[in-house]
Amino acid sequence: MSRYRDFHRRSIDDPETFWGTEAQRIHWETPFDSVLDRSNPPFARWFTGGRTNLCHNAVDRHLVARAQQNALVYVSTETGIERRYTYAELHAEINRMAAVMRSLGVKRGDRVLLYLPMIPEAVFAMLACARLGAIHSVVFGGFAAPNLAARIDDAKPALIVTADAGARGGKVIDYTPLVDEALARAQHKPPHVLLIDRQLAPERLNASYLVAYEPLREQFFDAHVPCEWLESSEPSYVLYTSGTTGRPKGVQRDVGGYAVALAASMEYIFEGRAGDTMFTASDIGWVVGHSYIIYAPLIAGLTTVMYEGTPIRPDGGIWWRLVEQYRINLMFTAPTALRVLKKQDPKFMKRADLSSLRTLFLAGEPLDEPTASWITDALGKPVVDNYWQTETGWPILAIQRGVEALPPKLGSPGVPAYGYNLSVRNEFTGEPCTPGEKGVITLGYPLPPGCMTTVWGDDQRFVDTYWSSVPGQQLYSTFDWGVQDDDGYVTILGRTDDVINVAGHRLGTREIEEALAGHAAVAEVAVVGVADKLKGQVALAFVVLREPDRYADPASRTALETGLALTVDRHLGAIARPARVHVVTMLPKTRSGKLLRRAIAALAEGRDPGDLPTIEDPAALAQIRAALDGVVG
Ligand code: PRX
Repeated sequence: MSRYRDFHRRSIDDPETFWGTEAQRIHWETPFDSVLDRSNPPFARWFTGGRTNLCHNAVDRHLVARAQQNALVYVSTETGIERRYTYAELHAEINRMAAVMRSLGVKRGDRVLLYLPMIPEAVFAMLACARLGAIHSVVFGGFAAPNLAARIDDAKPALIVTADAGARGGKVIDYTPLVDEALARAQHKPPHVLLIDRQLAPERLNASYLVAYEPLREQFFDAHVPCEWLESSEPSYVLYTSGTTGRPKGVQRDVGGYAVALAASMEYIFEGRAGDTMFTASDIGWVVGHSYIIYAPLIAGLTTVMYEGTPIRPDGGIWWRLVEQYRINLMFTAPTALRVLKKQDPKFMKRADLSSLRTLFLAGEPLDEPTASWITDALGKPVVDNYWQTETGWPILAIQRGVEALPPKLGSPGVPAYGYNLSVRNEFTGEPCTPGEKGVITLGYPLPPGCMTTVWGDDQRFVDTYWSSVPGQQLYSTFDWGVQDDDGYVTILGRTDDVINVAGHRLGTREIEEALAGHAAVAEVAVVGVADKLKGQVALAFVVLREPDRYADPASRTALETGLALTVDRHLGAIARPARVHVVTMLPKTRSGKLLRRAIAALAEGRDPGDLPTIEDPAALAQIRAALDGVVG
């Protein structure tokens, strides 16, 4: 039996022994009584009775061996600021922030809502909350006031921490007016808003609740705030994610299980060792940022690089130069960023010394085969696609190179990670699918450590949303379609909520996209299902071309459209052929790179796409509208 199979089997057959051993990776102030409490399924409590603290494990614990090692390297190409913090300096900053928060009344169990851009203070604030035993809830800086208000009302924070502004692509976004509006809308009114002044936006300390951070930081410059030792399953944070309803869904995580899961993942999946440098290009407002900009690299004693900016400013070589300059060993981003980089001049990549880089990790959306092949060839290093969710906190599927470097298969993020009892199931019967058969990806009880423990303030919603969709079985639904092959590799075929049905045939819009993406002319593509009188639904495709100028005249445009339809015919059969292919120059996406398919589908069906707080560029929607109206495309 392969090393991986044996390792995975042990984690499933005897989770108590498996995770009991893994738990030794972190510091326990008080040892746990039991590894796993399964008395109240589908809830699982890990390491019950054990007392620990995330900030202690991420920072204090390293002061003995690596006080002078960089813990955090901060680079902003928006402001030109570059800063380095050793573990000792990071420790001091967290203590200052914790003392400031404490002076504003924050205590164990309180929620602290962080509405912050990518600045070092965001890291200090998250870890200061962990230190105090307060529960942070980071709200992505791009969210608009109504969304922020909904989160304020759900989390009922004792304090909000914000900044004067964020910056993206050279544009300054004032935060305080958004906070003002959100507080006017929200029922819950926290007594204070702590303001980090980056001096990007006009001074706005007029509101009665705004408190400036800098003078308080000075006041508490030498503060020492002890770590609160929390019971392992007390909440560490709440991170809101979108569900099928408009109501915000607070993914709640524990303390001990999360620390253990992240520490283990750094060895088995990321192969990151103390002293290494990791660059995760994500945002602290997303789960990838929580886990792999902040907690995991610090818990494992690495140097983490935090970046504010886009991958193509000042030019398309910036990320590769960061790798060279900071001798980055591990890099983690989303496929979208690579598709952007793929369009850049190849000289940028060739010129940089990338010898320090060992592995590139990609997650968050499907890694299309053309992009995977391009980056694998261009980099000449392992590229590790990994599949997971806000809910799980760490990878569900990956080639776990620290366990066994199984060969990657293009189009698949790999095999189930240890701890996850994954099975692909028939959506109606709940029966396991045979290899090659498409079904819903489910996870058995218990979810491993690190996964969500409940929906904040709504246990029933946790049960109803995640554990009730497979008939007659206690299974967690990922809401993703997948197919597993004979070797255990899983391919993701899109969300169960994006399924389309064309004349009685169920199709994944993702499968059609994959086919179109294989066409040489196509840079990016989105496929959605729209209502059709005859067939129930048909697929519509929106494509971004690599060289739009080549298809400017009507004849070559028609030839292109025929070619694209044939590509789909060839890959999937004529049934999957999109009714129409529209050419646009950009697709509507969230800032984290997810295609806003439902918004496109709504426009295509003449419906209102609704509020899109996370949209990267609203102009993309206008393009879709224009394409549908026949103005272009
Ligand atoms: O549909 C899957 C897709 O993103 C969803 C989870 O998104 P989020 O909660 O933002 O968490 C991202 C954590 C990396 C999943 O249900 N997804 C995520 N990773 C992949 C993916 N789809 C295909 N391949 C992946 N590697």
